[in-house]
Amino acid sequence: MTTTATRASSPGSQPADPMVPRRYVITHVRQDTRDTFTLLLDPADGGPPLDFAAGQFTMLHAFGVGEVPISISGDPASPAPLEHTIRNVGAVTRALVEAAPGTEIGVRGPFGTSWDADDAVGHDVVFVTGGIGLAPLRPAILDVLRNRDAYGKVLLLYGSRTPDDILYGHEMHRWADLDGVNLQMTVDNAPYGYKGKVGFVTELVARAGFDPRNAFAFVCGPEVMMRSAATALNARGVPKPKIRLSMERSMKCGVGLCGHCQLRELFVCVDGPVLDFARLEPLMNVREL
Ligand SMILES: Cc1cc2nc3c(=O)[nH]c(=O)nc-3n(C[C@H](O)[C@H](O)[C@H](O)COP(=O)(O)OP(=O)(O)OC[C@H]3O[C@@H](n4cnc5c(N)ncnc54)[C@H](O)[C@@H]3O)c2cc1C
Ligand code: FES
Repeated sequence: MTTTATRASSPGSQPADPMVPRRYVITHVRQDTRDTFTLLLDPADGGPPLDFAAGQFTMLHAFGVGEVPISISGDPASPAPLEHTIRNVGAVTRALVEAAPGTEIGVRGPFGTSWDADDAVGHDVVFVTGGIGLAPLRPAILDVLRNRDAYGKVLLLYGSRTPDDILYGHEMHRWADLDGVNLQMTVDNAPYGYKGKVGFVTELVARAGFDPRNAFAFVCGPEVMMRSAATALNARGVPKPKIRLSMERSMKCGVGLCGHCQLRELFVCVDGPVLDFARLEPLMNVREL
């Protein structure tokens, strides 16, 4: 068993020069929430799909607008079409989610480390996530559920700002109903009469039913939420090397050349984005350059 997430290999379909985007066609755009959309992509050249590992990201290029890092949200075991779930927050993400089917975009990657859910075999598995953080975790959840019997309890603790911001709601309930996932959801704010839990997702960690001495945790969301969730998991007894987080930093090259994503001695694009809490904890207060 490794104690930290490892750099994933990407055999096959990656162009020789990682700075050269491969052209993809948007085949479908699905609206998930008010501001979040999932894009399905096929290679424009009709070539092989992109092999990737859960947790890796690509650089998506909206021609004439710019390029942004976005995690792959699809199933690593069936990589076609290529899936990305994107929140519309600015110029490039807006151009991507507003592109019509048939539009070509550029894709570089896949880049970065993976969740490596295999390391959690034999453990209880706790996914803690908030908002769109579920998108980068979805491939790891699918990896675990594909091999469900190899794991102990599987818990998914999910928080969103409001009930309308819940991502992949139907799919989460399917995982709970068909795959024995212990799903616990909460929202920060709810309208009058809402029957579900209200509060921060990190508050669910203290009471969740798992064996902390034999648990592995995967955490993805805003940095303040990840820090608080990882601290709560560790306080319950989950060892820091068994708590993995996915870091976000401003990125330009994605391949360790430009330094935009530097976090003290780490380049998040190649040393991350998935890193364990033992390594990340001292760095999580370092501001972005
Ligand atoms: C490894 C990695 C994986 C990512 N995966 C996803 C994903 O799966 N889905 C997704 O929607 N986004 C993801 N992001 C974030 C995404 O890259 C940014 O939202 C995007 O770069 C914003 O670009 P923009 O031009 O649309 O907006 P900008 O004009 O650059 O920014 C608009 C606003 O969003 C804020 N912002 C910019 N970048 C981020 C960020 N990284 N986190 C939080 N706020 C930000 C800015 O401060 C600004 O207020 C990921 C980032 C990284 C580093
Ligand atoms: S984005 Fe250029 S070094 Fe990481």
